[in-house]
Amino acid sequence: METRQPKRRIVLVPLPAQGHVTPFMQLGKAVYVKGFSVTVIQGHFHQVSSSSQQHDFPDFQFVTIPESLPESEYERLGPTEFLLKLNKTSEASFKDCIGQLLVQHGDDIACIIYDEFMYFCEAAAKEFKLPSVIFSTQSATNQASRCVLRNLNTKKFLADMEDDVQDKVVKKLHLLRFKDLSVSGLGPLDRVLELFNEMVNKKTAFAVIINTVSCLEDSSLSWLEQEFGIPVYPLGPFHITGSMPSSLVEEDRTCIEWLNKQKPRSVIYISLGSVAHIETREVLEMALGLCDSNQPFLWVIRPGSIPGWVSLPEEVSKMVSERGYIVKWAPQNEVLAHHAVGGFWSHCGWNSTLESIVEGFPMICRPFQGEQKINAMYIESVWRVGIQLEGEVKRKRVERAVRRLLVDEEGACMRERALALKEKVKASVRKGGSSYNAFDELVNYLKTE
Ligand code: UDX
Repeated sequence: METRQPKRRIVLVPLPAQGHVTPFMQLGKAVYVKGFSVTVIQGHFHQVSSSSQQHDFPDFQFVTIPESLPESEYERLGPTEFLLKLNKTSEASFKDCIGQLLVQHGDDIACIIYDEFMYFCEAAAKEFKLPSVIFSTQSATNQASRCVLRNLNTKKFLADMEDDVQDKVVKKLHLLRFKDLSVSGLGPLDRVLELFNEMVNKKTAFAVIINTVSCLEDSSLSWLEQEFGIPVYPLGPFHITGSMPSSLVEEDRTCIEWLNKQKPRSVIYISLGSVAHIETREVLEMALGLCDSNQPFLWVIRPGSIPGWVSLPEEVSKMVSERGYIVKWAPQNEVLAHHAVGGFWSHCGWNSTLESIVEGFPMICRPFQGEQKINAMYIESVWRVGIQLEGEVKRKRVERAVRRLLVDEEGACMRERALALKEKVKASVRKGGSSYNAFDELVNYLKTE
């Protein structure tokens, strides 16, 4: 009688944040389709296994790291301190999880794929002699910028920042200025650099996966491969290769009915992702500018994203409801694929950036923190498919930006370039394309090693 070969197991360890969990689950789906079993090891919050998306992954095994930190610690400490602490507290507990999995599944763990910020995983991989792969859910250029930051003398860097060199271009990263490097909003610079150093010190992984496409970031990818000395696989965009939604928040689908009533390419979609906060004053200026633009708008306002929020003044609220539609959380990929949408005002998180490129939209960029500035810089100056809204948010500037994007000739040119980019990116995931081939190579390696 023929015995069925047991499937090899891939262990995935995402960072507990929407923008990281999403591409991880999409990668999980993609490796599952290639014949691997999948175990997701997660912290105590932003768990896929407790969200409405759980049913999308019926065959996945979900395990919680007992000693992982609660969400209240993230609120208390902020991103950098939280990550430094999370890595310390989770290391031993994660080793126990892997030890137990090995008992359950024999020696059949093909690989641990962990988010680059969850570097505590390396200790377990080393102890149990398991191959590991680092997954960077953000851009390759962001990784390159981190390498540059790590190699800088911190004291000098801090002095330079005070010395008004923010507008100077960083050597080796031709388009990036110091003020674009991915440190703002993450905490004190010395602590951020400590985190970046910890991330690189622990590296014994055999490869790095990046949710990007070679045609978008070719030079940064080559630069990284040289710097790391291990293969770097650009496998993205995962939301089309993995073809699975994995929103941790309930989506309000009524906005699709509203979009159905709008003219083709007339709507500006506004979403600032799952982390950004905005001030009440800015919200008011945004609302007024959007109404003045005379374009319909679909606006995602996440609960808790406006500290101290009460409501819009009555007359503004009336104008907003005449011209626009507000939801707490939208089915973003469906919105971006809708024929009524003509442009995307984004905080330039990497997932939103890729999702917009895949649909060929021009963008208004309003980055908040971390690597969002780098993404915004690429959107505006490298791919030339968007404009940055810099400085204070003012009613007039908002109106102008929306009209430049949706009404003016300038916006039409950006849209043309965006559509050309869309075609290139879509070709990369088809048979023979760069992401398709890189994924095949990685899968073959994981199946045979
Ligand atoms: C975080 C960081 O802020 C970002 O800089 C980094 O690149 C990834 O991690 P986030 O701010 O949530 O991510 O932004 P983004 O990367 O754009 O991810 C947001 C995800 O939520 C996207 O996949 C988007 O489709 C989804 N989304 C957003 C919805 O499904 N509905 C919404 O209403 C808004």
